Amino acid sequence: MKLFDVYPLFDINIVRGKACHVWDEQGTEYLDLYGGHAVISIGHSHPHYVEMISKQVAQLGFYSNSVINKLQRTLAERLGKVCGYDDYQLFLINSGAEANENALKLASFHNGRTRVVSFGKAFHGRTSLAVEVTDNPKIIAPINDNGHTTYLPLNDTEAMQAELRKGDVCAVIIEGIQGIGGIRVPDPSFMQALREECTRTGTVLILDEIQSGYGRSGRFFAHQYTGIRPDIITVAKGIGNGFPMGGVLISPMFAPVYGQLGTTFGGNHLACAAALAVLDVIEGEGLMENAAIVGNYLLDELKKLPGLKEVRGQGLMIGIEFDSPIKELRSRLLHEQKVFTGVSGTNVIRLLPPLCLTMDEADQFLERLSKVL
Ligand SMILES: Cc1ncc(COP(=O)(O)O)c(C=O)c1O
Repeated sequence: MKLFDVYPLFDINIVRGKACHVWDEQGTEYLDLYGGHAVISIGHSHPHYVEMISKQVAQLGFYSNSVINKLQRTLAERLGKVCGYDDYQLFLINSGAEANENALKLASFHNGRTRVVSFGKAFHGRTSLAVEVTDNPKIIAPINDNGHTTYLPLNDTEAMQAELRKGDVCAVIIEGIQGIGGIRVPDPSFMQALREECTRTGTVLILDEIQSGYGRSGRFFAHQYTGIRPDIITVAKGIGNGFPMGGVLISPMFAPVYGQLGTTFGGNHLACAAALAVLDVIEGEGLMENAAIVGNYLLDELKKLPGLKEVRGQGLMIGIEFDSPIKELRSRLLHEQKVFTGVSGTNVIRLLPPLCLTMDEADQFLERLSKVL
């Protein structure tokens, strides 16, 4: 059997990782400014993470959600404290798209409505509702195209207010910082107006922090720079440092109903062990603070480089926009300078490194980037 060929691949086989570095099968070392697509939060193969997962799998890898799982309860308590949402409830699943599916379902169960407002360039996943609220017609199959979504321009307060005042919008879904859309940070004033309008119109506010959350922006959630509290927050990627996991943080205004949501694998023992190890390291090694310090340094230094159109972002979630396509530049960064980076559209390089990136590694990246500019 052949693989279903949907990924345009680099001809590189990564076989080993350590902190912010990965190695291919020939032993070539790469600096990882991509974090496997924002997934590696605490660094590759962190010893504490390896130990926690190894111990857990030796003891019990999985049992179903029909029995008590104390690891889930510990994770909910720890996460609530670290992120500042102690009073919220946690529902665990396996991926980002699944987190957004469940968030949208909950919103619709809550207010009985079916329309969703999303924003230009938004990405929320590839499953049915998640893809329907994603602003990319190429990945919305006819079966997913059910007319639930109205896309509005990001940061357009008047358009948002006009739409929500129709009184029939179930939910607004918005990324803490748009990732795939090219690292676009919503204006705090827009977010505050959005919060107010959602409350006034009974619309559920869903913050997708799947890429921008878990400390990446320098705060636990990117929206925490704006001073608002959403009704539902979705997380994935960094939560398990590569172990597949997603979570929905649910405000106390939602009462749980037996059987309304459910999953076979979500919140399994191994995933919880991974997520607890991640929180240990984020807290113990001050990785949020590190993301803020090293991220701000990178943002400042990148802005000094010639030939860049715009540098934007927060913490270690950075977009570097050029006037022309960056395909060749990114390829030279990878093949000549041995640096992995991400991309958005044709003209934006995305930096999403592990949150343990050091100042020295940031300097190495700046030096290697300068060589290919
Ligand atoms: C903001 C955002 N939401 C949702 C998703 C979907 O997550 P997953 O690929 O785990 O389903 C992604 C993935 O890139 C994302 O960046």
